[in-house]
Amino acid sequence: MTGNPWQDDRGNKDRSITKSSGAGGSGDPVRHRTMGSGAPRVTDGPFLIGDNMTGGYGSGADILHGCTLAVDPGQIAVIVGPNGAGKSTAMKAVFGMLNVRSGAVRLEGEDITHLTPQDRVAKGMAFVPQTHNIFTSMTVEENLEMGAFLRRDDIGKTIAQVYDLFPILGDKRRQPAGELSGGQRQQVAVGRALMTKPRVLMLDEPTAGVSPIVMDELFDRIIEVARTGISILMVEQNARQALEIADRGYVLVQGSNAFTGTGEELLSNPDVRASFLGG
Ligand SMILES: Nc1ncnc2c1ncn2[C@@H]1O[C@H](COP(=O)(O)OP(=O)(O)O)[C@@H](O)[C@H]1O
Ligand SMILES: [Mg+2]
Repeated sequence: MTGNPWQDDRGNKDRSITKSSGAGGSGDPVRHRTMGSGAPRVTDGPFLIGDNMTGGYGSGADILHGCTLAVDPGQIAVIVGPNGAGKSTAMKAVFGMLNVRSGAVRLEGEDITHLTPQDRVAKGMAFVPQTHNIFTSMTVEENLEMGAFLRRDDIGKTIAQVYDLFPILGDKRRQPAGELSGGQRQQVAVGRALMTKPRVLMLDEPTAGVSPIVMDELFDRIIEVARTGISILMVEQNARQALEIADRGYVLVQGSNAFTGTGEELLSNPDVRASFLGG
């Protein structure tokens, strides 16, 4: 442990989740640049990339056809696209839950295509799936403790920081998570993922089923997490609002990248607007 509450022997060493103090731990052997910061980049390519991924479920037909997703430290990358486009499948592929038949997944330049999801967690990746992402019969705090199952160090500080980020969870720490509102459950799911002190947080539709106000609030918290240097790779059905906070955006159609650009570029692209943003 370095004394940093969120990070120990990996990744961004110089910040807690809510209190940003600039990019790049000075002792890091590999440094990456967040957009526009101008810090030196030692490795080639993005921090995390699912590069040209093709694959499907079991021996079934391919769902992904050369799909590419990437994100850098402190960035928010957003994946949008119609239902059934393969957004969740692409997230599973990046997290190692899918057989990638061709293409690769690389983290800090290292090929992790064949690592198990658990090994990816150990490398600093966290994934909040679209459904069944909390234990409803366990309390809020037990959910957070479950999130830290790989850790052998003191998790109390991290729990306190999750409560800092999501104060309502501190108030409801002793309540079964299943009794919480939809938005609060999503906070539990995100909090649980943060318990591993990840470098990359992958979120599949974190605002599904919540009101616009709760969505805005959750997006604000996600921005806060990204400001600490954690990469966010996120699928969103609220495409317009999500692209507004995105450094990078991907429009996925039938398992392929239909459009890629900054959030701003996609929001102002007439084709994207007409087909995916309701004009
Ligand atoms: N576990 C699974 N086994 C087989 N096919 C699946 C599975 N999950 C999703 N699919 C199929 O993969 C395609 C893409 O689904 P999905 O990735 O969930 O799309 P999205 O998240 O963009 O709505 C769909 O045709 C869906 O039926
Ligand atoms: Mg999905």
